[in-house]
Amino acid sequence: MKLSLRLEKIANMITKDAKVADIGTDHGYIPVYLVENNISKSIIASDVNKKPLKKAIDIVKSYKLNEFIELRLGSGLEVLDENESDEIIIAGMGGILIKDLLEARKNIVKNAKSLILQPMQAQKELRKYLIENNYEILEEVLIKEDQRIYEIIKVRFDSNKKIYENIDDIDFECGIKFKKDELYKEFLQKKIDEYENIKSKLKDLDNEKIKEKYELCDEKINLIGGKLSEIS
Ligand SMILES: C[S@@+](CC[C@H](N)C(=O)[O-])C[C@H]1O[C@@H](n2cnc3c(N)ncnc32)[C@H](O)[C@@H]1O
Repeated sequence: MKLSLRLEKIANMITKDAKVADIGTDHGYIPVYLVENNISKSIIASDVNKKPLKKAIDIVKSYKLNEFIELRLGSGLEVLDENESDEIIIAGMGGILIKDLLEARKNIVKNAKSLILQPMQAQKELRKYLIENNYEILEEVLIKEDQRIYEIIKVRFDSNKKIYENIDDIDFECGIKFKKDELYKEFLQKKIDEYENIKSKLKDLDNEKIKEKYELCDEKINLIGGKLSEIS
């Protein structure tokens, strides 16, 4: 099974021999890759929709891997019992949906050793939720594919203690554990370009609301620019 760069990166963040759950598996590619590459032989793959689940059932059957990959229909973490999975993947969904799925099944989250999350949108909102709700960020990785930069966040829930102090709003947006490399610079520059683009569309600076928005964009550009210059 040849995976896309994004899926391959996610799969390779799994600890060898972990019991894995792939929530929202769709095609079932990650589970097949994990077994074929001897990373895990115990996987639960789920999807809330019958059609994608059927795709996964067919692919698992065609690779003759039914012994290692169990397929379940259902939403989010409700398909899992406590302690069934060490590492849980939730990839390719919006950050708000991922946050809601975690919040809905705290008992499953608490018992997992780690969760590998790959939000397609609302990355900032998801990171804010994680940091403010006792998740430890174990690893953050960027991966570029077809001109798009994806964020992958590996976390662990740590019940009682407050893990982070002094995290600013801008850290929710820019991450806290990314490697400070060329791709990270590109990621930050893209954010600056997005704010410049918003600014260029704002006219009527006499309007108080628009003026505020313009100033907020400037503030973000300064803060992200500061992060960029620290690593240039
Ligand atoms: C865009 S696909 C991503 C597939 C794969 N995880 C990936 O990263 O390429 C999103 C999948 O999540 C499933 N999904 C959406 N909401 C879900 C939920 N609440 N619980 C489980 N699966 C869900 C969809 O049916 C779809 O198959």
